[in-house]
Amino acid sequence: MLNNKNILLCVTGGIAVYKAVALVSKLSQAGANVKVVMTDSAKEFVQPLSFQVMSRNDVYFDTFDEKDSRVIAHIDLADWADLVVVAPATANVIGKLANGIADDMVTTILLATEADVWIAPAMNVHMYAHPAVVRNIAQLHEDGYRFIEPSEGFLACGYVGKGRLEEPERITALIGQHFSKTAEQPLKGKKVVITAGPTRERIDPVRYVSNFSSGKMGYAMAAAAQQLGADAVLISGPVDLPVPSGVQVIYVESAAQMYDAVLNEYDDASIVVKSAAVADYRPKLIYDQKMKKKAGDDVLELERTTDILKSLGDRKQQQLLIGFAAETTDVITYGKKKLESKNLDYIIVNDVTDPGGGFGSDTNVVTLLSREGEATPFNAMAKDQLAICLFETIIQQESDKLHDR
Ligand code: CTP
Repeated sequence: MLNNKNILLCVTGGIAVYKAVALVSKLSQAGANVKVVMTDSAKEFVQPLSFQVMSRNDVYFDTFDEKDSRVIAHIDLADWADLVVVAPATANVIGKLANGIADDMVTTILLATEADVWIAPAMNVHMYAHPAVVRNIAQLHEDGYRFIEPSEGFLACGYVGKGRLEEPERITALIGQHFSKTAEQPLKGKKVVITAGPTRERIDPVRYVSNFSSGKMGYAMAAAAQQLGADAVLISGPVDLPVPSGVQVIYVESAAQMYDAVLNEYDDASIVVKSAAVADYRPKLIYDQKMKKKAGDDVLELERTTDILKSLGDRKQQQLLIGFAAETTDVITYGKKKLESKNLDYIIVNDVTDPGGGFGSDTNVVTLLSREGEATPFNAMAKDQLAICLFETIIQQESDKLHDR
């Protein structure tokens, strides 16, 4: 499953270090080459020798101990890795990484590597819920790091709650899935167009009408399409997110600009995913000069924007058309209606009142509805993970029909 994959395991100091030994064993059994870097605190729990024996490789912990004079160890390890996994990740290493601190071998490698970095936190339940830790994790999500959420249960400190390092078998399975999905490249040669974020509808040179969409789900869909081999084109409203590597981006502001950009990319697209929260209305009149306030109330007259997704549905040929619907009540019923009225192949519906998802959140809880009437619910999970799962399910359901698109 992991043949010839280079996994760099960064072990930081918590009681769950003993589970990291089992993780090295599982990863090696799955065929991976594993190298281990430890912090000083991690060494207080388990001797480096245990990791050396399990990985059959040297264990690293001192930035200044250069074992091979031909290379600089921390850069060499950072470049060697296909994937870096921090497990267990303490509140301390999460805080350092979120703030760009590199004061030991682990944190220096984390800043030097260009490989994907996965973080598997393990700590006391109250530490995990501390505002500083929550803030740092949110920052790292925003910076593109992937988290393997800790599970709930008995913690070594005596508390029961969220904070246990995910089981080594599960971490190994997730890593295996990651490499097999991206290795298969089921979307190779396909153009996938994704829209993301809000639109802004101008009132005058200094004001606009918009919504709270963060663009995170759309950006995750674009990254997933690219990882699955597609030529991903992301048409983005104004958001504050880094463009996933390998994805072509076209920035737009208004619904009208998004309409033009999407139609421009439509004819040769195989899949179109409309995750953008397009404004349904725009001001009827856009003032050239800043509107001055007057005594008393004012009324802003709005007109409908074009429903981009419906226009795409009306002129659909080979394209697989996927819409999104954010609802607060009767989620499935409204989702089905939109799927039919806009002539979609799939719609991804979510209840934005669910605490596990919605605008701005890093996680989402959705149900995928197909035109054939199939409903596939997904548990709360990180948006980047969810995006891969959604494409996987759609690819599976389309199976042999996808190559005609
Ligand atoms: N959409 C679009 N163009 C619009 C409005 C929405 O392409 N002008 C797309 C969105 O990108 C999304 C889907 O349509 O994929 C959302 O459906 P929609 O019916 O517009 O959702 P709401 O605006 O929430 O509609 P309603 O007020 O009817 O719930």
